[in-house]
Amino acid sequence: MAIALVTGASRGIGKATALELAREGYTVAVNYHHNIKAATDVIHQIVEEGGKAFAVRADISDEAQVLAMFDSLDREGEPLTALVNNAGILFEQSSIENLSAERINRVLATNVTGYFLCCREAVKRMSFKHGGKGGAIVNVSSAASRLGAPGEYVDYAASKGAVDSLTTGLSLEVAAQGIRVNCVRPGLIYTEIHASGGEPGRVDRLKSVLPMQRGGQPEEVAQAIVWLLSEKASYVTGSFIELAGGK
Ligand SMILES: NC(=O)c1ccc[n+]([C@@H]2O[C@H](COP(=O)([O-])OP(=O)(O)OC[C@H]3O[C@@H](n4cnc5c(N)ncnc54)[C@H](OP(=O)(O)O)[C@@H]3O)[C@@H](O)[C@H]2O)c1
Repeated sequence: MAIALVTGASRGIGKATALELAREGYTVAVNYHHNIKAATDVIHQIVEEGGKAFAVRADISDEAQVLAMFDSLDREGEPLTALVNNAGILFEQSSIENLSAERINRVLATNVTGYFLCCREAVKRMSFKHGGKGGAIVNVSSAASRLGAPGEYVDYAASKGAVDSLTTGLSLEVAAQGIRVNCVRPGLIYTEIHASGGEPGRVDRLKSVLPMQRGGQPEEVAQAIVWLLSEKASYVTGSFIELAGGK
């Protein structure tokens, strides 16, 4: 058995990914920030389906909490072979005139620094040079990195641009260390993140402009993540999968 850590696995895309990874036989570390009830519900669902999972609380933007989270994984007695960097935030839709330094830094601290810290700790455990057996990382970026999210959250879009560069650079850096690093770029997916932007119904407002004319489900993103982590994708690294209904 091996551990897959999914950050932000209490809800949305992370939850769907955690459920699917448990079905694939991983012991899933369900990371969450505030919502312990939602994280516990995910654990219960996995256990009810015959899988194995445990919850691990950590704010991924806080280095000490990330270190403590990985320490707790080390005590589980199974190797960490998969990381899904998924936890992400955005704030109220706004044009640039109202973006404060505090907001921009909070977005970058979670969506960029948090991804870096989790990658760093995973590489220390997976890479051949540190005695690991290899592994795979999937970063959850966004179509916003290509489209820019004008008038809504350019700060968020820019953070996802950094996730794309992290994916490319790290994939090259650790390719010979037995670690594959890939990325998914979801578009409009039905989750609670849109409520954080002040518009819970955003997917339904915008879906008609998509070539496929519908929003996506978290499970459709999860399937791509699980494939990228699997041996079926054994020759895939530094790759990006668009899950955006054609836009
Ligand atoms: N939904 C979309 O349309 C869409 C499109 C493109 C990309 N994405 C990306 O997909 C990822 C998942 O988004 P989602 O829509 O599933 O979001 P969501 O429903 O809002 O869920 C966010 C998850 O992240 C966790 N989280 C937030 N801040 C955290 C932190 N500092 N440390 C640890 N966990 C934290 C939350 O934990 P708590 O429950 O404890 O708060 C929750 O589990 C994000 O990276 C997002 O940018 C989403």
